[in-house]
Amino acid sequence: MAMRGVTVLFFQVLILCFQAKAWNPVRRSYEVKQEATTLGNVHLITECMHVTSEEGEFSFIKLPPTRSTSSWKGTGGGRGLGESWSGLIEMESDTMLAGDGSGGEPLVANGGGGGGGGPAATVCGVYFVADPDQIIEITMKQVNVECRTGGLMAFVDGWELNGQYFPGEQDHEQRLERRVQEFCSEQAPPQWSTKAVTPAKVWVFRSSQNCALVQYRIPVRGSFVISARFLHNSKPCHIMAEGLAPYYMLRNYGQPKNCTLTALFPAVVSVIALEVGPVDKNVHYCERVRSDDKLEVGGSTGLDPHQMIKASTICGRSGGRMDLDQSILCGTTSVRLVSSGQYNNQAMITIRMAEEADLRLAAVMCAM
Ligand SMILES: *[C@@H]1O[C@H](CO)[C@@H](O)[C@H](O)[C@H]1NC(C)=O
Repeated sequence: MAMRGVTVLFFQVLILCFQAKAWNPVRRSYEVKQEATTLGNVHLITECMHVTSEEGEFSFIKLPPTRSTSSWKGTGGGRGLGESWSGLIEMESDTMLAGDGSGGEPLVANGGGGGGGGPAATVCGVYFVADPDQIIEITMKQVNVECRTGGLMAFVDGWELNGQYFPGEQDHEQRLERRVQEFCSEQAPPQWSTKAVTPAKVWVFRSSQNCALVQYRIPVRGSFVISARFLHNSKPCHIMAEGLAPYYMLRNYGQPKNCTLTALFPAVVSVIALEVGPVDKNVHYCERVRSDDKLEVGGSTGLDPHQMIKASTICGRSGGRMDLDQSILCGTTSVRLVSSGQYNNQAMITIRMAEEADLRLAAVMCAM
């Protein structure tokens, strides 16, 4: 239930993108909105899905309604916090709160009956996106979000929507459990909980790529203040494309890893230059050839590039400039550079928002 709210917002953002025909104006409208709600240097978070490409302080506050209808009686069990968000949400909406099977004490909310899963339990998020060669550092300056009343916060190394993640679960160097750090006032994130909890609760998180997410669920009351800083990343692998850069580079730096470039809009992807695999091979399609080093272009409805419908798979070396345009008419457009570690692979890519004229040339179309 709760996540559905985010879905609707996600599509609203997509529709906004369409209307604006470019991400740039969309970003500006966010900035304008933020200016309007800025107190000194602090951005006030007023929307459930708050997308920003700005550094600075962000604060959220929720006061209890005048007539409290909450019947939450949560008991924040230690390891139960390790539950994934979706797990928690299912638990809430089911209100059948038996053991969760994960072995830990579940975050139990009982006695509520029909109350669970209502608007009060909505999961919201502050979605940060920086330049491709930056990572995001988030400092939790204040956390007044109590597990006791069903509240929870999480730092996500990447973005999450409807249970899908960018970078994809299979593509990220860290396992998902390590990428999602849950916490609340009474409970430090796992990486801090072994040591003495910092008295002032100053927790600092860093993302591995240019996007990060701070999720929060505050059913009754609570507040938080976070501070975001963008730091330089000398070897970017996964990139959330904002559509502002003239081109994007995907590189593996000789490593056995997969790097992805994702844009949250239907796009025309153009591969400008390619160096993937053995030196003596020209650029060719390699869907059918068994090849450990390749560039995949495609699209999907969700966030995870690993689950995309492929438009093409190409290998080889272009020498000079080439133009291989492909229209990907999906909510999410992705390019994946798959590398065995045997070669220094790289690809230069441009992405622009698809326009009406590009519809005819669609290489991939998703239900939207
Ligand atoms: C990269 O992706 C390929 C194919 O999608 C997969 O077989 C491989 O295990 C991945 N490698 C890494 C290091 O994640």
